Amino acid sequence: MSASPEKPMLTGSRPDGALPAHVAIIMDGNGRWAARRGLPRFEGHRRGMEALRATVRTAGDLGIRYLTIYGFSAENWSRPAAEVAELMSLLRHFVRRDLAELHRNNVRVRIIGTREGLAPDVVGLLAEAESLTRNNTALTLVVAFNYGGRQEIVRAARSLAAEVAAGRLTLDAIDSDALSRHLDTAEIPDPDLVIRTSGEQRLSNFLLWQAAYAEFVFTPVLWPDFDRQAFEEALAEFQRRERRFGGLSSATG
Ligand code: FPP
Repeated sequence: MSASPEKPMLTGSRPDGALPAHVAIIMDGNGRWAARRGLPRFEGHRRGMEALRATVRTAGDLGIRYLTIYGFSAENWSRPAAEVAELMSLLRHFVRRDLAELHRNNVRVRIIGTREGLAPDVVGLLAEAESLTRNNTALTLVVAFNYGGRQEIVRAARSLAAEVAAGRLTLDAIDSDALSRHLDTAEIPDPDLVIRTSGEQRLSNFLLWQAAYAEFVFTPVLWPDFDRQAFEEALAEFQRRERRFGGLSSATG
Protein backbone atom coordinates (compact mmCIF):
# COMPACT_ATOMS: atom_id res chain seq x y z
CA MET A 1 0.00 0.00 0.00
CA SER A 2 1.42 3.35 -0.92
CA ALA A 3 1.82 5.93 1.82
CA SER A 4 -0.92 8.52 1.78
CA PRO A 5 -0.34 11.98 3.17
CA GLU A 6 -1.28 12.12 6.82
CA LYS A 7 -4.57 14.00 7.36
CA PRO A 8 -4.51 15.91 10.64
CA MET A 9 -7.05 14.47 13.07
CA LEU A 10 -8.92 16.93 15.23
CA THR A 11 -10.49 16.09 18.56
CA GLY A 12 -14.21 15.41 18.19
CA SER A 13 -14.19 15.74 14.39
CA ARG A 14 -15.39 13.26 11.81
CA PRO A 15 -12.40 11.19 10.70
CA ASP A 16 -13.21 11.94 7.05
CA GLY A 17 -13.98 15.62 7.64
CA ALA A 18 -12.23 17.92 5.22
CA LEU A 19 -10.49 20.94 6.63
CA PRO A 20 -11.65 24.33 5.36
CA ALA A 21 -9.40 25.63 2.59
CA HIS A 22 -9.89 29.21 3.77
CA VAL A 23 -10.35 30.31 7.38
CA ALA A 24 -11.04 33.96 8.20
CA ILE A 25 -10.75 35.27 11.76
CA ILE A 26 -12.12 38.32 13.56
CA MET A 27 -9.61 38.61 16.40
CA ASP A 28 -11.80 40.22 19.07
CA GLY A 29 -11.43 40.69 22.81
CA ASN A 30 -7.92 42.09 23.28
CA GLY A 31 -9.23 45.04 25.30
CA ARG A 32 -11.38 42.88 27.60
CA TRP A 33 -8.49 40.45 28.09
CA ALA A 34 -6.35 43.35 29.32
CA ALA A 35 -9.11 44.96 31.41
CA ARG A 36 -9.72 41.70 33.28
CA ARG A 37 -6.09 41.74 34.33
CA GLY A 38 -5.95 45.43 35.15
CA LEU A 39 -3.53 45.93 32.23
CA PRO A 40 -3.54 48.68 29.58
CA ARG A 41 -5.38 47.85 26.34
CA PHE A 42 -2.08 47.88 24.50
CA GLU A 43 -0.97 44.84 26.47
CA GLY A 44 -4.05 43.02 25.16
CA HIS A 45 -3.10 43.91 21.56
CA ARG A 46 0.50 42.86 22.19
CA ARG A 47 -0.65 39.47 23.50
CA GLY A 48 -3.08 39.32 20.59
CA MET A 49 -0.12 39.60 18.25
CA GLU A 50 1.42 36.55 19.93
CA ALA A 51 -1.84 34.64 19.49
CA LEU A 52 -1.75 35.64 15.82
CA ARG A 53 1.78 34.27 15.38
CA ALA A 54 0.76 30.94 16.94
CA THR A 55 -2.39 30.79 14.80
CA VAL A 56 -0.43 31.33 11.57
CA ARG A 57 1.90 28.49 12.61
CA THR A 58 -1.02 26.16 13.38
CA ALA A 59 -2.73 26.98 10.09
CA GLY A 60 0.50 26.17 8.24
CA ASP A 61 0.99 22.90 10.19
CA LEU A 62 -2.54 21.76 9.43
CA GLY A 63 -2.20 22.51 5.73
CA ILE A 64 -4.87 25.22 5.61
CA ARG A 65 -4.41 27.07 2.30
CA TYR A 66 -5.72 30.58 3.17
CA LEU A 67 -5.92 32.40 6.48
CA THR A 68 -7.46 35.88 6.53
CA ILE A 69 -7.17 38.01 9.65
CA TYR A 70 -8.92 41.28 10.47
CA GLY A 71 -6.00 43.42 11.65
CA PHE A 72 -7.45 46.93 11.43
CA SER A 73 -10.91 47.86 10.25
CA ALA A 74 -11.84 51.02 8.37
CA GLU A 75 -13.90 51.88 11.48
CA ASN A 76 -10.97 51.42 13.89
CA TRP A 77 -9.84 54.99 13.06
CA SER A 78 -12.55 56.15 15.49
CA ARG A 79 -10.55 54.74 18.45
CA PRO A 80 -8.39 57.12 20.50
CA ALA A 81 -5.38 58.31 18.51
CA ALA A 82 -2.99 56.63 20.97
CA GLU A 83 -4.60 53.23 20.40
CA VAL A 84 -4.57 53.69 16.61
CA ALA A 85 -0.86 54.52 16.86
CA GLU A 86 -0.29 51.38 18.93
CA LEU A 87 -2.03 49.18 16.37
CA MET A 88 0.04 50.76 13.58
CA SER A 89 3.22 50.13 15.52
CA LEU A 90 2.23 46.50 16.07
CA LEU A 91 1.80 46.11 12.32
CA ARG A 92 5.23 47.64 11.71
CA HIS A 93 6.68 45.28 14.27
CA PHE A 94 4.90 42.31 12.71
CA VAL A 95 6.33 43.01 9.26
CA ARG A 96 9.84 43.84 10.50
CA ARG A 97 10.07 40.96 12.94
CA ASP A 98 8.07 38.19 11.30
CA LEU A 99 8.34 38.72 7.56
CA ALA A 100 11.63 36.83 7.20
CA GLU A 101 10.25 33.84 9.08
CA LEU A 102 7.02 33.86 7.09
CA HIS A 103 9.07 33.92 3.90
CA ARG A 104 11.30 31.04 5.11
CA ASN A 105 8.13 29.05 5.77
CA ASN A 106 6.93 29.66 2.21
CA VAL A 107 3.98 31.82 3.38
CA ARG A 108 2.57 34.25 0.84
CA VAL A 109 1.27 37.53 2.28
CA ARG A 110 -1.60 39.44 0.68
CA ILE A 111 -3.01 42.70 1.99
CA ILE A 112 -6.65 43.71 1.49
CA GLY A 113 -8.14 47.10 2.30
CA THR A 114 -7.14 50.54 1.17
CA ARG A 115 -3.75 52.19 1.58
CA GLU A 116 -5.47 55.59 1.76
CA GLY A 117 -4.83 57.30 5.09
CA LEU A 118 -1.94 55.03 6.07
CA ALA A 119 1.49 56.47 6.86
CA PRO A 120 3.93 56.15 3.93
CA ASP A 121 6.26 53.83 5.86
CA VAL A 122 3.35 51.49 6.65
CA VAL A 123 2.35 51.48 2.96
CA GLY A 124 5.98 50.64 2.14
CA LEU A 125 6.11 47.76 4.62
CA LEU A 126 2.87 46.29 3.31
CA ALA A 127 4.19 46.46 -0.26
CA GLU A 128 7.45 44.84 0.84
CA ALA A 129 5.60 41.97 2.57
CA GLU A 130 3.58 41.29 -0.57
CA SER A 131 6.42 41.56 -3.05
CA LEU A 132 8.94 39.49 -1.06
CA THR A 133 6.49 36.60 -0.63
CA ARG A 134 4.58 36.79 -3.90
CA ASN A 135 5.88 33.49 -5.29
CA ASN A 136 5.47 31.46 -2.11
CA THR A 137 3.22 28.44 -2.34
CA ALA A 138 2.30 27.21 1.16
CA LEU A 139 -0.21 29.13 3.29
CA THR A 140 -1.53 32.46 1.96
CA LEU A 141 -1.89 34.89 4.87
CA VAL A 142 -4.37 37.59 3.93
CA VAL A 143 -4.10 40.62 6.21
CA ALA A 144 -7.20 42.83 6.17
CA PHE A 145 -5.78 46.20 7.12
CA ASN A 146 -7.66 49.49 6.86
CA TYR A 147 -10.35 47.20 5.50
CA GLY A 148 -14.13 47.49 5.33
CA GLY A 149 -16.39 45.17 3.34
CA ARG A 150 -18.83 47.86 2.21
CA GLN A 151 -16.02 50.17 1.14
CA GLU A 152 -14.45 47.29 -0.82
CA ILE A 153 -17.75 46.61 -2.64
CA VAL A 154 -18.12 50.33 -3.43
CA ARG A 155 -14.58 50.39 -4.91
CA ALA A 156 -15.42 47.33 -7.02
CA ALA A 157 -18.67 48.95 -8.24
CA ARG A 158 -16.80 52.12 -9.20
CA SER A 159 -14.17 50.18 -11.04
CA LEU A 160 -16.83 48.22 -12.98
CA ALA A 161 -18.64 51.49 -13.79
CA ALA A 162 -15.38 52.99 -15.05
CA GLU A 163 -14.90 50.02 -17.40
CA VAL A 164 -18.45 50.40 -18.72
CA ALA A 165 -17.94 54.15 -19.18
CA ALA A 166 -14.72 53.47 -21.10
CA GLY A 167 -16.54 51.01 -23.36
CA ARG A 168 -14.46 48.03 -22.21
CA LEU A 169 -17.35 46.23 -20.52
CA THR A 170 -21.05 45.85 -21.33
CA LEU A 171 -23.74 46.06 -18.65
CA ASP A 172 -24.70 42.45 -19.35
CA ALA A 173 -21.18 41.32 -18.49
CA ILE A 174 -21.62 42.52 -14.90
CA ASP A 175 -22.41 39.43 -12.88
CA SER A 176 -21.22 38.14 -9.52
CA ASP A 177 -18.01 36.71 -11.02
CA ALA A 178 -17.18 40.09 -12.55
CA LEU A 179 -17.77 41.85 -9.24
CA SER A 180 -15.66 39.26 -7.39
CA ARG A 181 -12.80 39.92 -9.80
CA HIS A 182 -12.88 43.62 -8.86
CA LEU A 183 -12.71 43.04 -5.12
CA ASP A 184 -9.43 43.23 -3.18
CA THR A 185 -9.75 39.44 -2.79
CA ALA A 186 -9.68 38.72 -6.56
CA GLU A 187 -8.17 35.24 -7.02
CA ILE A 188 -8.57 34.37 -3.34
CA PRO A 189 -11.29 31.74 -2.81
CA ASP A 190 -14.21 32.67 -0.54
CA PRO A 191 -13.79 31.76 3.14
CA ASP A 192 -15.28 28.42 4.17
CA LEU A 193 -15.17 29.27 7.85
CA VAL A 194 -15.32 32.59 9.69
CA ILE A 195 -14.29 32.49 13.36
CA ARG A 196 -15.00 35.36 15.75
CA THR A 197 -13.57 35.29 19.24
CA SER A 198 -14.80 36.95 22.47
CA GLY A 199 -18.46 35.92 22.24
CA GLU A 200 -19.59 38.75 19.93
CA GLN A 201 -21.78 37.46 17.11
CA ARG A 202 -21.59 39.84 14.18
CA LEU A 203 -19.59 40.37 11.01
CA SER A 204 -18.52 44.01 11.63
CA ASN A 205 -18.05 44.83 7.94
CA PHE A 206 -15.66 41.89 7.39
CA LEU A 207 -15.73 40.04 4.04
CA LEU A 208 -19.42 40.89 3.50
CA TRP A 209 -19.52 39.63 -0.08
CA GLN A 210 -17.11 36.75 0.32
CA ALA A 211 -18.72 35.20 3.41
CA ALA A 212 -22.06 34.57 1.65
CA TYR A 213 -21.83 30.80 2.18
CA ALA A 214 -19.28 30.62 4.99
CA GLU A 215 -19.90 28.70 8.18
CA PHE A 216 -19.61 30.85 11.32
CA VAL A 217 -18.08 29.74 14.57
CA PHE A 218 -18.34 32.09 17.55
CA THR A 219 -16.16 31.23 20.51
CA PRO A 220 -16.20 32.92 23.92
CA VAL A 221 -12.39 32.69 24.08
CA LEU A 222 -10.80 36.17 24.09
CA TRP A 223 -8.34 36.58 21.22
CA PRO A 224 -5.10 36.61 23.30
CA ASP A 225 -6.16 33.21 24.75
CA PHE A 226 -6.93 31.72 21.32
CA ASP A 227 -4.50 28.81 21.17
CA ARG A 228 -4.08 25.67 19.10
CA GLN A 229 -6.77 23.86 21.08
CA ALA A 230 -9.31 26.65 20.52
CA PHE A 231 -8.44 26.70 16.81
CA GLU A 232 -8.81 22.92 16.52
CA GLU A 233 -12.17 23.07 18.31
CA ALA A 234 -13.43 25.64 15.80
CA LEU A 235 -12.22 23.45 12.93
CA ALA A 236 -13.90 20.39 14.45
CA GLU A 237 -17.14 22.39 14.76
CA PHE A 238 -16.83 23.28 11.06
CA GLN A 239 -16.37 19.60 10.21
CA ARG A 240 -19.61 18.73 12.01
CA ARG A 241 -21.59 21.21 9.90
CA GLU A 242 -23.34 20.21 6.71
CA ARG A 243 -22.84 22.77 4.00
CA ARG A 244 -25.68 22.95 1.52
CA PHE A 245 -24.95 26.13 -0.48
CA GLY A 246 -28.70 26.69 -0.88
CA GLY A 247 -29.33 23.11 -2.03
CA LEU A 248 -30.93 20.20 -0.16
CA SER A 249 -29.51 18.24 2.74
CA SER A 250 -27.97 14.91 1.69
CA ALA A 251 -30.17 13.29 4.40
CA THR A 252 -33.45 14.70 3.05
CA GLY A 253 -32.55 15.03 -0.60
C1 FPP B 1 -10.10 43.57 18.71
O1 FPP B 1 -9.97 43.67 20.11
C2 FPP B 1 -8.81 43.60 18.05
C3 FPP B 1 -8.36 44.60 17.23
C4 FPP B 1 -9.12 45.82 16.93
C5 FPP B 1 -7.05 44.54 16.60
C6 FPP B 1 -6.52 43.18 16.32
C7 FPP B 1 -5.04 43.29 16.33
C8 FPP B 1 -4.19 42.33 16.78
C9 FPP B 1 -4.61 40.99 17.22
C10 FPP B 1 -2.73 42.58 16.84
C11 FPP B 1 -2.23 43.36 15.70
C12 FPP B 1 -2.26 42.65 14.41
C13 FPP B 1 -2.02 43.29 13.25
C14 FPP B 1 -1.85 42.55 11.98
C15 FPP B 1 -1.91 44.75 13.26
P1 FPP B 1 -10.68 44.88 20.84
O2 FPP B 1 -9.65 45.92 21.09
O3 FPP B 1 -11.86 45.34 20.05
O4 FPP B 1 -11.11 44.19 22.16
P2 FPP B 1 -12.38 44.57 23.06
O5 FPP B 1 -13.60 44.40 22.20
O6 FPP B 1 -12.29 43.56 24.16
O7 FPP B 1 -12.16 45.98 23.52
